[in-house]
Amino acid sequence: MHVIDVTTHKPYQVVIGTMLLERTGEIVRGVCGGEHAVIITDSNVGPLYAHIVRESLEHAGYAVSVFTFPAGEEHKCAATLIDALEFCAEAQLSRSDCVVALGGGVTGDLAGFAAATYMRGCRFVQMPTSLLAMVDSSVGGKTAIDLKAGKNLAGAFWQPDVVIADIGCLGTLDEERVADGCGEVIKHGVIADEDLFATLEQTPLNADLIHRDLAHVERLIARNIEIKRDVVVADERESNLRKLLNFGHSIGHAIEACAEYQLGHGTCVAMGMVAIARAAAARGVCGNDVPERIEATCRAHGLATRTSFTTDEIFAAALHDKKRTGDSIDIVLPHRIGACNIERVSLAEFKHLIEDGIQTGACA
Ligand SMILES: NC(=O)c1ccc[n+]([C@@H]2O[C@H](COP(=O)([O-])OP(=O)(O)OC[C@H]3O[C@@H](n4cnc5c(N)ncnc54)[C@H](O)[C@@H]3O)[C@@H](O)[C@H]2O)c1
Ligand SMILES: [Zn+2]
Repeated sequence: MHVIDVTTHKPYQVVIGTMLLERTGEIVRGVCGGEHAVIITDSNVGPLYAHIVRESLEHAGYAVSVFTFPAGEEHKCAATLIDALEFCAEAQLSRSDCVVALGGGVTGDLAGFAAATYMRGCRFVQMPTSLLAMVDSSVGGKTAIDLKAGKNLAGAFWQPDVVIADIGCLGTLDEERVADGCGEVIKHGVIADEDLFATLEQTPLNADLIHRDLAHVERLIARNIEIKRDVVVADERESNLRKLLNFGHSIGHAIEACAEYQLGHGTCVAMGMVAIARAAAARGVCGNDVPERIEATCRAHGLATRTSFTTDEIFAAALHDKKRTGDSIDIVLPHRIGACNIERVSLAEFKHLIEDGIQTGACA
């Protein structure tokens, strides 16, 4: 088992290991008082794991209610949020009681926003079950729902009281979802840890590894959470660092929008990382080995790295990105594997970077 301290203004711990669902009650008791717990989960994860979490919480003395919503990003919306809040009210949850998010990033974002707003904020436990939720969305305190106009447009910062990542849950995740989460895992290697990257080069993180060597997977996930934690904690002091987590995302988000969200986020990030690394190499910011290694590693993880969208299409989509500030944009350029810098570039310069970076061709 790994325990990682997140020392944001509200400190909390991330517990990573196996057979943790069974220990939920004990762990939650250690950090939250209260008498009630509402488990928020989706229609895929609930039937697999909610009964284990419920039993453990009841064993620790909580009265437990389970709110299940239909799985899928389209349900990370205002209607589901209101249903979840009404459910909490009906269950007579008080401010000192807790909302438990059991599921992927959709569940964590939605339940976190519910916890942030229910009675102006109640206790909150994150139990990520997807790879993406474990290495990315469950740590950092960002919660949100989507609006008709775009993704994550309404939300709040709301730190959990504890994060419980039972990596045994990864065994039921399909191959495509595992690959999708690997986009962020590879990103973490590029922005912060060459050793992590080299480990992924040698032994890709995939469904086979999950079934073969959970101890190795646990170490990988713990390292990823440390990297995300370090950036999030440092960002509370010197703002800007969080932008490092955007590596591959300026172009990646634009490709995601061009594809009308039909491509996985991890795939779009892989395309974005390879493109921006290629552009950086064309400017002499890094060697050619950097984009080559990133591309090979993404492919080894089952992620396509080439897009059929044109520079104009990608640039037009990027102009709508909420991260843009006026006529410039902050982008993350790799200097080598394990070290990246944030640079502010004009939109014209950004368009050149896209042009240099994207490689059209058959999607691998
Ligand atoms: N808050 C943040 O900082 C942050 C960061 C990155 C992404 N996000 C958000 O995260 C969401 C994407 O997360 P995601 O990829 O986990 O999506 P998701 O929650 O939709 O999960 C993907 C699919 O896998 C299923 N699933 C999850 N765990 C499972 C398991 N153990 N076994 C079987 N099926 C399982 C889900 O039911 C769903 O169908 C997006 O909405 C994105 O905006 C948030
Ligand atoms: Zn991402």
